[in-house]
Amino acid sequence: MKTKLKIAAIFTFALFACVFLATSGNTQTKIETAGQKFKSIKVLNDMPADQMGKVMNMMSASLGVNCAFCHASNDGDYEKEGFEHKDTARQMLKMTFELNKNYFDGRPEINCNTCHQGISHPKPSFPLKPVIAVESPVQPDKKPTVDEILAKYETALGGKANLAKITSRHIKAQRIEPDGKTFEDEEILQKGGNLLIQTIYPSKQYGDYVVKEIFDGATAFKLGNGAKIELKADETEQIKREAQLFANPNLKAVYPKMDFRAVDKVDGREVYVITASISETQRERLYFDVQTGLLVRRVASTPTILGNFVFQVDYTDYKKFGGVKLPTLINFAVPNIHWTRKVFDVKNNVKIDDAKFTKIF
Ligand code: HEC
Ligand code: HEC
Repeated sequence: MKTKLKIAAIFTFALFACVFLATSGNTQTKIETAGQKFKSIKVLNDMPADQMGKVMNMMSASLGVNCAFCHASNDGDYEKEGFEHKDTARQMLKMTFELNKNYFDGRPEINCNTCHQGISHPKPSFPLKPVIAVESPVQPDKKPTVDEILAKYETALGGKANLAKITSRHIKAQRIEPDGKTFEDEEILQKGGNLLIQTIYPSKQYGDYVVKEIFDGATAFKLGNGAKIELKADETEQIKREAQLFANPNLKAVYPKMDFRAVDKVDGREVYVITASISETQRERLYFDVQTGLLVRRVASTPTILGNFVFQVDYTDYKKFGGVKLPTLINFAVPNIHWTRKVFDVKNNVKIDDAKFTKIF
């Protein structure tokens, strides 16, 4: 039962690909609203429709519940009314928007998690002992430059000469679902730092639904059993990034603007934090281990009415394949959904026909 719900949540997230009519750079952009697209909307009328999946997952994560907590019929009919928690959530949405409007100049400073912190029913309580603040790491007297951090990263991966020898990769991996028991096989083909096919083969529970994510150097696609799945702008970017990142230590070619921010900590280890922008609206953060020089975390944020929807990738357990290091344990997380990729086989310089990447349909 529980697994079923999780699967529903994962697929719903994947399938929430609404028609997004935005055209970049056009101020007259017409964006379909939730009020236009969905049937039973009383509060989120003006929200862009393509934020619905993100907002529902952010609310679920904040309360530590699944969809059925509010959509109590648990039959995938999200329009259905008459559920106490759904009605309360509407009141809470209104309250949250009013707080931001009246006290924070409309900035989404307050969200469900500000109060809920992962529990559905926050209890009124006060700390009885002083809360010990987490010590922030000491900042270096002389800030490292982005070039220094990237040079160290290149060396840590195996060095320019070794990296140049790798032209393609065939990676076999397993996708581990949050229950730790459900696995799907993954096959990843990369070529030239700009071509990618990721195939996710279903485990028994998922039937025969094969998902492919493709980047052909210009466009990203997602296919479910051969049929095109509409992608949102941020999802397209993430598929592209999968293609660009690990075959290519020259991150400046990927991110036109990179700035050193600070020294911080990830899992107790000191990291250099860099902001890396593709454009004004597409900003990511990259975290490099101060000691090893390796990239350990990447965070992409997409603005929503409840604040930033965060997509976080943690890269761990780097191992050498043909003189070049790759992370073999990769954790992907968005609010309410997370999964792990465990890499168990990497073959370098396998022959991959270019047509495989372009002739998809
Ligand atoms: C905390 C309560 C809560 C949780 C948890 C929640 N929802 Fe909702 N959902 C709502 C409310 C409230 C609305 C109606 C919003 C409005 O009236 O503007 C809604 C509306 C929807 C709609 C639009 C339905 C329509 O056509 O009118 C969909 C789809 C939806 N939710 C999906 C989900 C999914 C999928 C999940 C789990 C990932 C989820 N919801 C989790 C409270 C919740
Ligand atoms: C300013 C603090 C605050 C914010 C922000 C907030 N909540 Fe709450 N919420 C509470 C408190 C406190 C309760 C418990 C109220 C009670 O005891 O009756 C609660 C209760 C609820 C309940 C009923 C839970 C139950 O077990 O009966 C739901 C559902 C809920 N909140 C959803 C949300 C959602 C969704 C958001 C974001 C859109 C949100 N809340 C934002 C403070 C907050």
